[in-house]
Amino acid sequence: MSAQTTANPYLPFVTKIIAVKAETESEFTLTVQAVCSITPGQFFQVSLPRIGEAPISVSNYGSDWIQFTIRAVGKLTGAIQNLKTGENLFIRGPYGTGFPVDRFKNSRLVIVAGGSGVAPVRPLVDQVVNGQLPVKSLDLIAGFKNRASIIFTDDLVQWQQKSNLTLTIDKQEEGWDGATGLVTEHIRKLRFDTFDDLQVIVVGPPVMMKFATAEFRMLQVPAERIWVSFERLMSCGLGKCGHCKIDYTYVCVDGPVLNYSYAANLID
Ligand SMILES: Cc1cc2nc3c(=O)[nH]c(=O)nc-3n(C[C@H](O)[C@H](O)[C@H](O)COP(=O)(O)OP(=O)(O)OC[C@H]3O[C@@H](n4cnc5c(N)ncnc54)[C@H](O)[C@@H]3O)c2cc1C
Ligand code: FES
Repeated sequence: MSAQTTANPYLPFVTKIIAVKAETESEFTLTVQAVCSITPGQFFQVSLPRIGEAPISVSNYGSDWIQFTIRAVGKLTGAIQNLKTGENLFIRGPYGTGFPVDRFKNSRLVIVAGGSGVAPVRPLVDQVVNGQLPVKSLDLIAGFKNRASIIFTDDLVQWQQKSNLTLTIDKQEEGWDGATGLVTEHIRKLRFDTFDDLQVIVVGPPVMMKFATAEFRMLQVPAERIWVSFERLMSCGLGKCGHCKIDYTYVCVDGPVLNYSYAANLID
């Protein structure tokens, strides 16, 4: 009997960093060289040998490159922040359900993203503004704590021209002439004549998702029209270890993008 070999799904592959861009004091975007088939909203397990591994969303991609926008909060992300162009980054994936892009075609799309939650929706917004994903309209509410925490400043300028963008910071700051207040206050200003062709995406910190989804429900938006993305502690990313489990849901394979009609019971 001949020996059979099975590819180890836990084994990462090496990618070369081809660009590094600082977004804020603690956040940065890495572009790595890789050819992968990706759906917006998916994530990779990103690692460095002998340091660690963590799930990171794809913040954009092209035919032979992937971007990750990372906040240095701990052991791995802190080490990655020190990497330079030409150095290696290890990744495995893509994992998880992405956004149901086909359902968004010709919809009136509303995206509410808070802080680093803008990263997973960025490829989708780009597809809309580049005309790859035709929609009837795009309302985008991007909320940040303060001016210093705004990421993707170049993209936001471009998105402003091609969508109904509300860029808001929590409180008024000197020199800021844009919108202020929490994203929920801006959701309240949206007007819906019909929900027929509406699709809503909410991505951000758990507390923001909780109140933003509640706000849409108060506006009578059907739960089935709302999509959320969960950031949950993960290990394998493959539906095996159970680290990401909420009740019977494995967020790594059943999510991270979930319909709110299902996810409502998982939001604590
Ligand atoms: C689907 C998904 C997508 C994600 N996408 C992104 C993304 O696009 N960008 C991104 O930046 N992050 C993302 N994350 C989050 C990221 O995976 C975590 O922040 C990850 O834990 C970082 O790994 P680390 O080793 O750098 O941090 P860790 O060292 O594991 O630290 C993680 C947290 O624990 C705290 N901590 C660490 N050590 C201690 C200690 N001794 N005592 C108390 N607290 C401690 C840290 O302050 C930090 O807040 C995503 C998560 C998921 C699930
Ligand atoms: S991370 Fe292991 S089961 Fe989801």
